[in-house]
Amino acid sequence: MPGSIFPAERLAFVLAAWLVAGTALARDWLPLAKDGVHDPKSPAVRQLQEPRDALSVLPADTTGNMVRWVEALEKGAIEPRASIRPGTKVQILDQDILMSLKGGMPIVRFPHRQHTLWLDCSNCHEQLFKSQTGANKLSMFQILQGEQCGVCHGAVAFPLTECNRCHSVPRPNGRALSPAAPLPPHAKTGAK
Ligand code: HEC
Ligand code: HEC
Ligand code: HEC
Repeated sequence: MPGSIFPAERLAFVLAAWLVAGTALARDWLPLAKDGVHDPKSPAVRQLQEPRDALSVLPADTTGNMVRWVEALEKGAIEPRASIRPGTKVQILDQDILMSLKGGMPIVRFPHRQHTLWLDCSNCHEQLFKSQTGANKLSMFQILQGEQCGVCHGAVAFPLTECNRCHSVPRPNGRALSPAAPLPPHAKTGAK
């Protein structure tokens, strides 16, 4: 056939099919027998709940393991046990820290509340982060190396490709803040 080997309609069709397939694929989970972790020959594999059965009913995400875990917790879709030891006190801290105040990216809002719903203070303090505003020198480079926030994000919490989930606060006029006084490295705020 003379002319284009890739007519516009065909391209549109291929793109649409790819998008549909991509979306379907996005909310699917490998069966346990194929996940490379479980022994497919073990009879126990058939006794275990498949990730698809457990996770498909939870609030959807488009990345990571496809579940919006914070939403799942806040909506009561899951009710994780605080500890295997009875009487463990859960301590929630409702306070945000604003970071990356100088750069060109939107400001980073670190929410204590959402973290302390899952974690104990000692998971972060004082080894990973000092509990003093601005006392930690954080950098995207180190985070991408799996340090600082990257100890969890990209491992057990949403991946680092989701820039705007951390860089979530727009700068005034879209520009870096430039007050007369020098900016502190980080700023403490109350509850969101
Ligand atoms: C898990 C949270 C998180 C995610 C996801 C994230 N960042 Fe960051 N980013 C930070 C933190 C924390 C800082 C350092 C803030 C500070 O202390 O001033 C930072 C700093 C930066 C800086 C400032 C320069 C530097 O190295 O400190 C840039 C640029 C940046 N991030 C770009 C990105 C881009 C692009 C993405 C997505 C590909 C991204 N970030 C994803 C948390 C995150
Ligand atoms: C997921 C990690 C994480 C967890 C869990 C966590 N924090 Fe933090 N905390 C941070 C980070 C990051 C900062 C910011 C430090 C900075 O600005 O350099 C911070 C800052 C602080 C500060 C300094 C704020 C101020 O008033 O100057 C205090 C106090 C604090 N945390 C207490 C706690 C307590 C109490 C808990 C448990 C209820 C807790 N944190 C749980 C990461 C965490
Ligand atoms: C000890 C593990 C850990 C560290 C360290 C950690 N996070 Fe998280 N973070 C989590 C978990 C777990 C969640 C909830 C699950 C999810 O959203 O994937 C979460 C959720 C979040 C959320 C989403 C809150 C929401 O409302 O959806 C933001 C934003 C965030 N983290 C930013 C950061 C930044 C910025 C840092 C570094 C300063 C950081 N985290 C360090 C474990 C951690």
